[in-house]
Amino acid sequence: MKIARTVAEVRQAADCCKVEKARLGLVPTMGAFHDGHVSLFRAARAECDKVVVSLFVNPAQFAPHEDLARYPRDETRDAELAEDEGVDILFAPPADELYPTGFHTWVDPEGTGAEGVRRPDHFRGVATVCVKLFNIVQPDVAYFGQKDAQQAAIVRQLIRDLNLELELRVVLTVRDPDGLALSSRNTYLSADERLRALTLPRALRAGREAYADGADPVAAARAAFNGLDPDYVEVLDLGNAKLLAAAARVGETRLIDNVVLEGELT
Ligand code: PAJ
Repeated sequence: MKIARTVAEVRQAADCCKVEKARLGLVPTMGAFHDGHVSLFRAARAECDKVVVSLFVNPAQFAPHEDLARYPRDETRDAELAEDEGVDILFAPPADELYPTGFHTWVDPEGTGAEGVRRPDHFRGVATVCVKLFNIVQPDVAYFGQKDAQQAAIVRQLIRDLNLELELRVVLTVRDPDGLALSSRNTYLSADERLRALTLPRALRAGREAYADGADPVAAARAAFNGLDPDYVEVLDLGNAKLLAAAARVGETRLIDNVVLEGELT
């Protein structure tokens, strides 16, 4: 596996794939890999000839009060895991490679849902880094997780609105056996918080069951949030699928999750 640190290096490595007319897959990540990331690598590995994974804790998507400084980082372990999963190129640049002095151009999506309202400027940072990564790597397909459904919806809109030449795949959420969605931020949870966090997937499941019975999924999920105060519970209409999404704080840790109400994610 090649580890690229600069835009020039990753472009050169990815260009080789283009010359061979290979199908190139990109999985953008912020590292601290878990089985959710791995399922994206596997989806890419299954349908692409070459797989590029970017590992970049994007400062632009963190608000000043958020967890940029303490976000989990373990590049050595991540690189081993990526290599074991057959990733061809790991693009792990320093921050000033993507945001050099004098960087002034932002991609600012509108209509970013309740998550966007709660995290102003977050999706501006996500959209900007994604467009940069797409331009740098020029993948045929990019892989995103259902777990961050609003993010996937924004990337879909971005591809459409800016006429980007790539396909988007949305990969189903990977959960621990007890139902908690895997997240790099789960490492912040104490044992007690980890237990309380299960309220989030349980409430969403209650909402899904209510919806199947013709009742209001948002009201049902809210009623099931005993002990946790959700930031929001909302129905996300992704066109091809309707999801029930929610965010909640457990201690200092903010978790998000969603379930499919109807339709299919692709
Ligand atoms: P990160 O949180 O590292 O997530 C990278 C990708 O893994 C995202 O597409 C996310 O939705 C997916 N993912 C996370 N947890 C998952 C799970 N339990 N099951 C399936 N997929 C999961 O999302 C980001 O990084 C950043 O915002 C990024 C897109 C890289 C831009 O900086």
